[in-house]
Amino acid sequence: MTNPKPARLQHFAVEVSDPDRSIEWYRRMLGFKLTERHAAYENPNIPVELTFMRLGQVHHELVIVHNPAKTYRPKPSLPEDDVDGPPMFHHFALECDSRDDWLALLDHVRAEGATIVRGPVLHSFVQPRGDGSWGENEAVYILDPDGHRIELFCDLATIDSDGTHINARGERMIGTTTDEL
Ligand SMILES: [Fe+2]
Repeated sequence: MTNPKPARLQHFAVEVSDPDRSIEWYRRMLGFKLTERHAAYENPNIPVELTFMRLGQVHHELVIVHNPAKTYRPKPSLPEDDVDGPPMFHHFALECDSRDDWLALLDHVRAEGATIVRGPVLHSFVQPRGDGSWGENEAVYILDPDGHRIELFCDLATIDSDGTHINARGERMIGTTTDEL
């Protein structure tokens, strides 16, 4: 009997300064659909505006949060630039089903004028064109209108029973290790 645990990480909520702008951006740039949008205090227990968005069939995979009573300041464009402040989230990641889908999305976000802050890059210290980092996935990082960093990726490695990482082509990445099995 293993310890109780959640099955998976599923949705992410971003706080935004201008919900109309962000909703439009997530729809146009990343293909999210609007499930439902609710004003602050529409439910007397909820003091913020909540917009539920989805990529697939579940009710929401992204929540846009906005507090109309708050004065929003700009955030640093890169998480590493925030040298004096509370701990913030660093990035969240959206997965493509295939490398072809990821390349098509890369073309799309470029055409739509996305702010690209890193990549495209292959996170690998094993593969010849890798960047010396970890995961075996290919990724590009963009910023949403408030500067929240979003990773768009494909082909993340899986972990074999002995801790060896297996890439998307089923190849065992010799030299990789896993701290906890
Ligand atoms: Fe990441």
